[in-house]
Amino acid sequence: MKHLLADAAVRAARYLSELDSRSVVPSQESIASLAALGGPLPEQSCDPAQVLAMLDDIGSPATVSTAGGRYFGFVIGGSLPASLAANWLAGAWDQNAAMQVMSPIAAKAEEIVREWTLDLLGLPATSGMGFVTCTTMANFSGIAAARSALLQRAGWNVEEDGMFGAPSIRVVVGDEVHVSLLKALSMAGFGRSRVTRVPVDGQGRMRADALPRLDEHTLVCIQAGNVNTGAFDPAKEVCARARDAGAWVHVDGAFGLWAAVSPQLAPLLEGVEQADSWAIDCHKWLNVPYDSGVIVVRDGEHLRRAMAAGNAAYLAQSAAREPWQFTPDSSRRARGIEMWAAMRSLGRSGLREMIERNCRQARTFADRLRAAGFTILNDVVLNQVLVSFGSPEETRRVIADLQADGTCWCGGTVWQGHTAMRISVSCWATTDEDVERSAAAMIRIAKAVKA
Ligand SMILES: Cc1ncc(COP(=O)(O)O)c(C=O)c1O
Repeated sequence: MKHLLADAAVRAARYLSELDSRSVVPSQESIASLAALGGPLPEQSCDPAQVLAMLDDIGSPATVSTAGGRYFGFVIGGSLPASLAANWLAGAWDQNAAMQVMSPIAAKAEEIVREWTLDLLGLPATSGMGFVTCTTMANFSGIAAARSALLQRAGWNVEEDGMFGAPSIRVVVGDEVHVSLLKALSMAGFGRSRVTRVPVDGQGRMRADALPRLDEHTLVCIQAGNVNTGAFDPAKEVCARARDAGAWVHVDGAFGLWAAVSPQLAPLLEGVEQADSWAIDCHKWLNVPYDSGVIVVRDGEHLRRAMAAGNAAYLAQSAAREPWQFTPDSSRRARGIEMWAAMRSLGRSGLREMIERNCRQARTFADRLRAAGFTILNDVVLNQVLVSFGSPEETRRVIADLQADGTCWCGGTVWQGHTAMRISVSCWATTDEDVERSAAAMIRIAKAVKA
């Protein structure tokens, strides 16, 4: 075991140190070579060192360098050194984070991370929190808590009696709602299409003046950080209207809520702390390994009621916070440990510096591309940049050529009718040199396409 783990550490360190000099995307040959991992399941056992070597030799070249500093696709954060190292140690511990009795360290890490996260983001200190895999599951959990609370107020116990015959709940979303929120609504029995969509402005922000009448049977889902523009829905106005009406406000704050750690950026989030639930991603801007997100609910009892399992004689409960009472999963890995390590290593100022640096780097991309004659389609208020290189066809060709070039990686989108390339700067490892090198590659390739 000792030699094997030491070998794994050497191989992992070598992989990370080579990221800077390799193409961000794997070659077609490396992808084709993955077939060698398959074939019929061997009848006989083999040396684990051989298995690891095979995985490294065949698997490492077929990875996408999302851990490196020049991956700007989707919204993908790397893994901070402390959180990756903590992930390895926690892997060796092999803790089941479901219950206090199964892992005191996992339960304690969650309690500490709950306090630190609420403090960092300025959310109510008594909120409940569940540790989930991603924002999709955090949205699902927040929606389940909202459903429980709104129906309880209407005299209906949804956990016992289900949705059939339940009083109706109206769901209000912005027209730029993230697809994962609609997925979460569908999983919670609300349906993707049975929503009232509020028109948005040119940055994708819900228009507060177009909000329908709210009441105590309404769930309003707003967004902190649009996946394309980085823009924020007007939380202050929406929360004030919802408060007066007795409606529930859920915030899909996947990556945008982390902006609250920065005094410079915090005004973008004004009023967000007045909501009832918040979904937050940790594998994005906290830069912990996949998979990691949290759901925060102002009155944690609603989350606990929505997520609590029934009694089973062999599952001893304690009076302390039992982690599995706040999540859709029961058994799961101890992902709170990596979050603890990320926060403990960065501290408040380190996290603020990382977020502000990524936003500054996004502005540098916009400046360089604009100076080269290309059109920036969004107000770069956060870490997201949308750029058009001309006609839809030209933009699509630049994206394809850039992806093939391998200096960096960006994906495409269509923003309010305009074909665009998305640049998302979300990684601790991105240096200013990475940004200059990547911007130069974008400009070189775009000029070649237009020549
Ligand atoms: C606003 C928003 N919500 C939800 C998600 C989904 O996050 P996850 O993939 O962690 O479920 C994303 C992903 O980019 C997002 O930007």
